[in-house]
Amino acid sequence: MNATETIVVSRLQLLEKQLLVLYRVSSVLNKSLDMKQTLAEVLKILHDDAGMHHGIVTLSDPSHGGLSVGSIHVESEEIKRSSNSVRYRPGEGIIGRIFESGESIVLGRISTEPRFLDKLELYDLELPFISVPIKSRGGKVIGVLAAQPAILSDIRVMLPDCTRLMEMVANLIVQTISLAHTVETEKQDIKEERDELRRQVRSKYGFDNMVVGHTEQMRRVFDQVRRVAKWDSTVLIRGESGTGKELIASAIHYNSPYANNPFVKLNCAALPETLLESELFGHEKGAFTGAVRQRKGRFEQADGGTLFLDEIGEISPLFQAKLLRVLQEGELERVGGTTTVRVNVRIVAATNRNLEAEVEQGNFREDLYYRLNVMPIKIPPLRERIEDIPDLTEFLLAQLGKQQGRKLTVTDNAQRMLMSHHWPGNVRELSNCLERAAVMCENGVIDRDVIFLSGLDIDSAVSIKPSIAQTNLDINDPDMDERERVVAALEQAGWVQAKAARLLGMTPRQIAYRIQSMNIRVRKI
Ligand SMILES: Nc1ncnc2c1ncn2[C@@H]1O[C@H](COP(=O)(O)OP(=O)(O)OP(=O)(O)O)[C@@H](O)[C@H]1O
Ligand SMILES: [Mg+2]
Repeated sequence: MNATETIVVSRLQLLEKQLLVLYRVSSVLNKSLDMKQTLAEVLKILHDDAGMHHGIVTLSDPSHGGLSVGSIHVESEEIKRSSNSVRYRPGEGIIGRIFESGESIVLGRISTEPRFLDKLELYDLELPFISVPIKSRGGKVIGVLAAQPAILSDIRVMLPDCTRLMEMVANLIVQTISLAHTVETEKQDIKEERDELRRQVRSKYGFDNMVVGHTEQMRRVFDQVRRVAKWDSTVLIRGESGTGKELIASAIHYNSPYANNPFVKLNCAALPETLLESELFGHEKGAFTGAVRQRKGRFEQADGGTLFLDEIGEISPLFQAKLLRVLQEGELERVGGTTTVRVNVRIVAATNRNLEAEVEQGNFREDLYYRLNVMPIKIPPLRERIEDIPDLTEFLLAQLGKQQGRKLTVTDNAQRMLMSHHWPGNVRELSNCLERAAVMCENGVIDRDVIFLSGLDIDSAVSIKPSIAQTNLDINDPDMDERERVVAALEQAGWVQAKAARLLGMTPRQIAYRIQSMNIRVRKI
């Protein structure tokens, strides 16, 4: 073989090898979403199979406007470590120039190029050096891939082929890098949004500016909240509908050491039992029709934080047993799964039912009752703390005023009228009444007339006896028509449809059908 023939043969061998390299690189890219790991494997393939040594990928870094090392193939751990702090400004050295120009630079011998910086003191200065841009789809340079070809004796003749290989590899890895950038940016955005929301929520639920009350009864409640918040004991909040159970649950979480961890809520009355189970415990892929992927339940979502189980008195005996196990053992299995998942969650439960009576009647498990009732907090109904009404009114009007962008005030007369009402719906009823009044008053001053117009029936209201007020309307009243009965049940159930359905002995589907066909406007809860 003459010299030309020899070159042709070794070029053929090189191209064959390069094809294999491309195949291996593309397989690696399909394997993982971890950019660092992928780039390290690509550089290793370039080293092992293509003789491209000391490969390095530098990536554009918005924090300083230049390039930082994304991955490097070297044996020395020390060089690897020091590469973390290496930066290239745009235009600086060979790498910085490619970042600026977007053109590959190939050196036949490094020592002939004075601009070569060799910041890592890694390369053989008598050998060639190939560096190519990594360009995004829009043509923007997002990094540089470089390496030193070091195996063939006639390498300089092969430089164009090696450069083409490097360019092809750069084209292949661009997607991995872009994807990692997008994921990283999104992650950062989500983190910032989360922190901002937490800040907002914390300032919102910081006790003093959210939960209003100065009466002895409420001061006692606040004192209990402050004490229990510090620990991870289970809390059971009792109180009539609308007294502020959810608000107090939030206050406990946001004043606890877990305030930075999740606060997850679940209304146990809002879901039928089968859904409740998968909602709380999660499910495995394929556990039931529609379970297309594995899903974490509220317990797992709340890991490290607080899980608020609202309307706990509504769950069936079967479900009570399942819940008891998680509370006792801190372990659960997702629906359709066999692996045991450990969770570390602080439970705050709430109910407006008389749980003791339910236990007595055998509707609520005694053992679960004792598990939940570790730290009971009872929120008194509003009619037992009438003196809180002026403060609550002022607070709620300030909130409404913010929403409406104007100042809202209430006259003394109107205030007296509010204080003489019995408030069967407690603070929520007061809040709704003020909202209606605020919508109706033109000048921002809420007086007696506006309160009347808002639908507060003061005369009948004062005459409502506590026992009747608590049960609202009797859904079994024979004088009621079907529509009135559904509305009464919804009212009684705090507009939780599943709960109202249970009161009426209907399925959730049946009540939903009636609400629609009877054109009942569902109140937001
Ligand atoms: N002490 C309070 N200070 C300020 N706002 C309050 C107070 N108590 C209740 N509220 C407000 O009243 C409304 C009803 O409160 P919340 O939803 O916490 O009641 P609840 O007891 O959970 O009712 P339900 O039993 O119907 O679910 C909410 O808008 C809440 O912010
Ligand atoms: Mg509630």
